[in-house]
Amino acid sequence: MKTIVITGATSGIGLSVLKQSLKKGFKVIGIGRDQNKIDIVTNELSEYVSKEYLIFLKADLMELTEVKRVGLEIKKYLQEINSGLLDALINNAGCVRNWYSTNSQGYEQQFALNHLAGFYLTHFLLDCIIKAKGKILITSSKSHMNTKIRWNDIMFEKHYHPLLVYKQSKLANMLFSYELNNRYKALGIKAYGIDPGLVNTNIGLKNTGGLVKFVWNIRKRFGLSPEVPAKTYLYLLEEMPSPIDLYYHNSKPAYYSSEVNFKNSFRFFVLSEQLCNIKFGDFS
Ligand SMILES: NC(=O)c1ccc[n+]([C@@H]2O[C@H](COP(=O)([O-])OP(=O)(O)OC[C@H]3O[C@@H](n4cnc5c(N)ncnc54)[C@H](OP(=O)(O)O)[C@@H]3O)[C@@H](O)[C@H]2O)c1
Repeated sequence: MKTIVITGATSGIGLSVLKQSLKKGFKVIGIGRDQNKIDIVTNELSEYVSKEYLIFLKADLMELTEVKRVGLEIKKYLQEINSGLLDALINNAGCVRNWYSTNSQGYEQQFALNHLAGFYLTHFLLDCIIKAKGKILITSSKSHMNTKIRWNDIMFEKHYHPLLVYKQSKLANMLFSYELNNRYKALGIKAYGIDPGLVNTNIGLKNTGGLVKFVWNIRKRFGLSPEVPAKTYLYLLEEMPSPIDLYYHNSKPAYYSSEVNFKNSFRFFVLSEQLCNIKFGDFS
């Protein structure tokens, strides 16, 4: 039985990936932030999924302290059940905001959840993924194109623009995937960025308002059902495509931004380490 972890597993794309993964026989550790939603999903699935196949953990991944707590909890659990092997980590939780807001550490929220949470969680689970020669799937987006990292104002403190902040966070997902392959593919692990396309979820309606909410309410009607992009995740979980093809859409490699390169990915990785106050994957 292969074990996977999915963040943002209580709604939208993450929930569809969770359901399709269970149907394919994966053991799933879902992470959700809301106990009520966790209970609803667990009850719905309990009729046809045996308890050993689905575990949910609650964590507010906006906060690095919570990421650390749940990361260590998963690691301990994996050590107890299967010698610490993790076949895949799916960093999918994400948000949009239409105003500048920070987590308790003072980090801008889209940056903190869409990038840093996945970066930091991967740090805690890296050795489990290496042991299993596993995969890291990161939900990026086509919106990572036509933008750059704002090295001088990484959290957009000076000039906040919700869409540019979101685009940067999705470029961050690509840089992280790229650098993971640079550093660790020799150890047998693979990282992929995924473009789910435009998907009919409520992401733009949660903790937003004004223009963002108005636009998303219209835009989401043109989106696909989350079941469609979930198939790409299952394809990457089940097949062994080359990590040279870094970025996938509709289960096929897609073109990604030229900003995703060795120089930027290295620099961004080091910056992320500094922001999390870690040496990635090092617990000594
Ligand atoms: N929808 C699109 O068109 C689209 C396109 C490209 C990329 N994406 C990306 O797809 C990913 C999933 O988004 P979605 O569209 O499926 O929207 P969604 O349904 O809102 O999914 C986002 C998930 O993240 C979780 N989450 C939010 N804040 C969290 C926190 N503080 N701690 C832990 N989990 C938290 C949400 O939990 P709750 O269930 O409690 O809200 C939800 O499960 C995101 O990374 C997004 O950027 C979406």
